[in-house]
Amino acid sequence: MSAHPAPRPRMTLGDLAAKKRVGEPLVMVTAYDHPGARIAEEAGVDLVLVGDSAAMTVLGYDSTVPMTVDEMLMLTRAVRRGLDGPLLVGDLPFGSYEASDALALATAQRFVKEAGVDLVKIERGGTTVDRARALVAAGIPVVGHVGLTPQTATALGGYRAQGRSAEAAIAVIDDAIALQDAGVSLLVVEAVPAEVTAALRARIDVPVIGIGAGSDADGQVLVFHDLLGLTETPAARFVKRYADLRAAAVAGVAAYADEVRSGAYPAPEHTYGMPAAEAARLAELLAAR
Ligand code: KIV
Repeated sequence: MSAHPAPRPRMTLGDLAAKKRVGEPLVMVTAYDHPGARIAEEAGVDLVLVGDSAAMTVLGYDSTVPMTVDEMLMLTRAVRRGLDGPLLVGDLPFGSYEASDALALATAQRFVKEAGVDLVKIERGGTTVDRARALVAAGIPVVGHVGLTPQTATALGGYRAQGRSAEAAIAVIDDAIALQDAGVSLLVVEAVPAEVTAALRARIDVPVIGIGAGSDADGQVLVFHDLLGLTETPAARFVKRYADLRAAAVAGVAAYADEVRSGAYPAPEHTYGMPAAEAARLAELLAAR
């Protein structure tokens, strides 16, 4: 019997569209390293996003803005090595795609060539729509991201729900439609009222993945560290915690510290032995020195 289960066949964009057609919700989660990817793989999710939320969840920055392409690529390669079935989405970090189509293409090609992503994600409408069109024209599948776009949160008035007035809602919906017209394969909609998600989804054919966008989406995405309770700071209103791994981890490390200090660890079962004859010979050799 093999120690590893047989690899799942890789999902395709066609599979995502088929799931949307039959109303089967799409499940996306972030991952930032190899163990996280293996967990997502085994849990059977459809898509894994190496989000630039890694800036806060694993690198200790206070926003996604400082994240570099090289930092993202290192994390994304680790996730790639752990995935078989789910589609892998790489998040292009702030400053790596906005200035021109050429910059966006050069960055996205690095994500495809060096980290093996299936799709790249870029934030906002506006000029990002042109970047999306250029990437799609070059054969790189794109995920759009509208609503709360953390890379430009300052311009949006902070990390707060978007589209809460009728006019603001229309702006979010128009961004989504423009990104779809540019050819994106998928849309992430973050932190908008459920009414906005419903109105947007009624006008959009590509799958819509919500985060803090209510249940009227084609799927959901959550940040790995949020849903598993690994973060120290309070999570956003829309996060549901499915585990409390941070408390378990602190308890585990504290128990280890206690046992090292008391001498209870390592016990004989954690210790390598030497054949008695070799131990006796070692004693002789040491005595003779
Ligand atoms: O960076 C990220 O994790 C994201 C998700 C929250 C959608 O963009």
